[in-house]
Amino acid sequence: MQTMAATQFEATDARRAFPCWDEPDFKAVFATTLVIHPRLTAVSNTLVTSESIEAGTKVVRFADSIKMSTYLVAFIVGHIEATAPVFIGKTPLRLWTVPGKQSLTPFGQDIASASLKFFEGYYGIPYPGDKLDLLAIPDFASGAMENLGAITFRETALLVDQRTGTHDELERVADVVAHENAHMWFGDLVTMSWWNGLWLNEAFATFMEMLAVDAWKPEWKRWDTFSVSRAAAFSVDGLHSTRPIEYPVRAPKDADAMFDVLTYEKGASVLRMLEQHIGPAVFRDGVRDYLRTHAYGNADTKDLWVSLGHVAKQPVPELMDGWIFQPGYPLVTAHLLGDTELVLSQQRFAYLPHDKFPEQRWQIPVQIRITAGNRTEHRRLLLTDRETRVALPRGVRQLLINEGGHGFYRVRYDAMLLQRVLDAGVARLEPTERFNLVSDAWATTISGLMPLSDYLHLTGHFTEERDKNVWVLLLDSFSFLNRIIPASERPAFEAFVRNRVTPAVNELGWTPRAGENDLVRQLRGELIGALGKLGNDPVIQQQAIEHYQQHRKDQATVDPNVVPALVSILAHVGNEARYDEFSERYRMAATPQEERRYLFALTAFQSLELLARTLACTINGGIRTQDAPFIVSTTMMSVYGRELAWNFVKTNWDQMDRLFPKQGVRRMCGGIVCLATPELEQDVREFFTSRKIDLGGKTLEQYLEQLRIAVTFREKTKTSIPQHLKDFMQ
Ligand code: BES
Ligand code: ZN
Repeated sequence: MQTMAATQFEATDARRAFPCWDEPDFKAVFATTLVIHPRLTAVSNTLVTSESIEAGTKVVRFADSIKMSTYLVAFIVGHIEATAPVFIGKTPLRLWTVPGKQSLTPFGQDIASASLKFFEGYYGIPYPGDKLDLLAIPDFASGAMENLGAITFRETALLVDQRTGTHDELERVADVVAHENAHMWFGDLVTMSWWNGLWLNEAFATFMEMLAVDAWKPEWKRWDTFSVSRAAAFSVDGLHSTRPIEYPVRAPKDADAMFDVLTYEKGASVLRMLEQHIGPAVFRDGVRDYLRTHAYGNADTKDLWVSLGHVAKQPVPELMDGWIFQPGYPLVTAHLLGDTELVLSQQRFAYLPHDKFPEQRWQIPVQIRITAGNRTEHRRLLLTDRETRVALPRGVRQLLINEGGHGFYRVRYDAMLLQRVLDAGVARLEPTERFNLVSDAWATTISGLMPLSDYLHLTGHFTEERDKNVWVLLLDSFSFLNRIIPASERPAFEAFVRNRVTPAVNELGWTPRAGENDLVRQLRGELIGALGKLGNDPVIQQQAIEHYQQHRKDQATVDPNVVPALVSILAHVGNEARYDEFSERYRMAATPQEERRYLFALTAFQSLELLARTLACTINGGIRTQDAPFIVSTTMMSVYGRELAWNFVKTNWDQMDRLFPKQGVRRMCGGIVCLATPELEQDVREFFTSRKIDLGGKTLEQYLEQLRIAVTFREKTKTSIPQHLKDFMQ
């Protein structure tokens, strides 16, 4: 056992390490000296200027930093090893690991170099530090942290074996590395003045991460997969308890609570919408102007609008303020008036009924694709009023609102328009457009605007779907249903899932075809996993056992992308012997990804005794505190383990609160949204109220509202679901 020290100061913990004005707009130059054990290595934000042994200790002095905020200061001390530096221009770039893990660095190094070059080009400003170190820390609370010149990561976000990693695992490393590198400018060189403007850091880093990864591996279609992030933002922003992207911050807890999907994913989505509206080159020039003007300083949202408006020669604040300073987003309803007039109207979308909202309006950039006869037309308009009328050509066959899918709004078609979209064939739509069609249909189903039977019917149009993101969304909606149906309905529900998923699995088979792309491989894994677990398909389960044995004998014979499905199916049907085997694999894993896979498999067993063993490890040191909160929340998401996990949380709350990182406790509580029965909901509310627990910002309110939505839906569909499921069984 070895000890390693690594700092994590964002948002307000630099003050615990050294005396300082610990607020983002008190920028300063930092000169660090570390006095350490002679056999250890130290890394900080800048190059080492001198190293000497004095009275048996090692004294390491670092060069002065640029003028920067306190939360970006970092030091790491331990037994660590670096890759040989590669030079990006004048910048030496290295990756650091604990001894023995250097073989897992090449992939991270590739994306680190590629994204650093990409950003220097995009921003038109050289990298602001004197060197760049990326460090993999074996126990790290968040995903990664953008300390200038010394970025820290959890191991799964930096180290990966390219041969055995799945597409999702490789994409995760690429995303996180590109995201943190993007921060070297957005966040480190130019910083928000105060935490209410955190989106200027995080939304931009998220947006830039997409651009960089998309440029690096266009075949990954990163912007298509961004649909998943946009959908995550929609689901929180459809709550009464959502907040505007900019939101007041007073206490440190509230600063921590700002790191959520509204800041990251909604922020990045509205930036993408703006970029597509004013054009990518104009947007980039506005970004360059903003960074140049505020380099080594701080900025507010209005400063960004000034730069963008200046370059775009358009009134950017009028367009954007509604998206940044108002909570929620619009639902655009489309209906036909006669045959040649389209009426579009906007109202705020919410899952639960809402008479109490004041009238809200957005300026919505809307793109429409109209197919009439054999001609296709593209229209762009800015919806500013409550209602807008659009003249249509005669003989419209298909009409699609939100062409390209970049808009941050939902669409609800009238029955006739929806029928035309479906009749013309969903295969004619782009992947993101199909994604939005399903996502909007599902959201309007939950909110009561679309009957569940219509949604279930709609999913039947997607048996030929081969886009992984669309499938992930469909499967998520099935998982939601699985959590709200009574156990007695589960066999009928499983048959429904098999009906929807089996055709695709039969066609894709178990082994990749020559030349098949990574996305299809990942899709195969997702579908097999769903069929084996949600569909409870005995044939797939048996085949999974056989493929797993093959994989154990010779890794090269099974595609890495199906391995997670194998492991989770085996856990789903597994007994104690399997549990012991997987616990051992967790402890002996060769890569961080393999370790994570077997660890999370320990939440996928059905036996309560086994799940109880997993939960016990979250507080007895068996599972590191970086993972423990997620293990608890994942168990709360299991229909078998949720009550057990909830009781475990109640019993051990104080200990968890002490042991887990702050962000961890907040994330762990996210699992309560799955406790979707009226009795459990009641119990959850009582617990949080009686213990006066505050998770910062609006976090708890949002979790409780999401739980309310699930329970409401359960109660509303309780009697009709059995009939629907019968209707769809074949
Ligand atoms: N600045 C954050 C790290 C952070 C998160 C600090 C929460 C304090 C509280 C970093 O840039 C970040 O966004 N990390 C993400 C990963 C990223 C790729 C989305 C994280 O840790 O989840
Ligand atoms: Zn970030």
